[in-house]
Amino acid sequence: MYGVSITGTGSYLPPKILTNRDLEKMVDTTDEWITTRTGIKERRIAEDGVSSSDLAIEASRIAIKEAGILPKDIDVIITATVTPDHSFPSTAANIQKEIKAVNAACFDLSAACSGFIYGLFCAKSFIESGNAKTVLLIGTETMSKITNWKDRNTCVLFGDGAGAMVLTRTKKEDTNILSVYIGCDGNYGHLLKVEAGGSKLPVTKEVLDQNLHLIQMCGKEVFKSAVNKMLDASRKALEMCNKKCSDLALFIPHQANIRIIEAIAERLDLPRERVFINLDKYGNISAATTIIALDESRKSGMVKSGDLVELVAFGAGFTWGAAVLQL
Ligand code: ACO
Repeated sequence: MYGVSITGTGSYLPPKILTNRDLEKMVDTTDEWITTRTGIKERRIAEDGVSSSDLAIEASRIAIKEAGILPKDIDVIITATVTPDHSFPSTAANIQKEIKAVNAACFDLSAACSGFIYGLFCAKSFIESGNAKTVLLIGTETMSKITNWKDRNTCVLFGDGAGAMVLTRTKKEDTNILSVYIGCDGNYGHLLKVEAGGSKLPVTKEVLDQNLHLIQMCGKEVFKSAVNKMLDASRKALEMCNKKCSDLALFIPHQANIRIIEAIAERLDLPRERVFINLDKYGNISAATTIIALDESRKSGMVKSGDLVELVAFGAGFTWGAAVLQL
């Protein structure tokens, strides 16, 4: 068994900002409601014609540069996304072409907001088993393209962005990934979904008229499960590597709602300064959220080499997952 070294991270946010005040002009909402109910103040929006792979390419170039590798050294590209460029070819394949990672096998991974943690599970398994030496793991989303901009229940929540991580083989005792725990319960799929556009409900004029190709969510039910499942996943991933919450230098939860984050932090007895928050700036960027947060916390000096960090996420499926990293 090998260990896994995190050799580079990168993130990219599109420059266009959509504020709560802008949303007040689009739907029946207020800055005050969005701020108090979610903690979000603004989010980034990709321009027309800018896709998830375009954002991912920018983030990947930064991660690859920091890792000090060449694109041809990458064995596998995994792209976690619910907003792929198309059904096929994969977004990962589109990224491979642009960054010229000519030796990489490529695939997309669909686990909604938990996608990056699911990707860590895969990358860890590929490298530890010896099947791959270097993996480029990406979380990238253009949630604005599947948002119903007339639905105030959902359009205030999401944003666009991408994050990337380069993981390479190292000695077992030097590993940066101590544990990854993932789970799913498909019985709750109906509570958070994009119903149309796949084989079950192909896009027709009627489907478009009913906006079934866009996000639908039962927020209250999602909220309750998000708190319970992220708590459980956080504890399980720590148990798997014999660590405690008090050992964590930083806790990086999925950035969906400040009230979800506060409920989890309180139950884990984590002080505010050890909980990462950037949802005020970006909202929920689904699979890109935790890797953007990790990259920002590394680059801003919030965490340093040797620190213990936990990532935790919850999303459609329902899916959930947590990972404990020793940086
Ligand atoms: N502005 C003003 N009022 C609003 C808005 C808005 N933007 N949105 C909803 N309301 C209204 C509702 O219509 C409702 O009015 P009513 O009482 O007259 O019917 C009232 O506010 C309360 O609505 P609730 O849904 O009860 O509000 P809640 O406090 O639950 O907050 C929210 C809603 C923010 C969506 C919350 O439930 C939430 O964050 N849920 C979890 C989201 C999440 O975690 N997603 C993660 C996964 S995402 C993924 O996987 C892609």
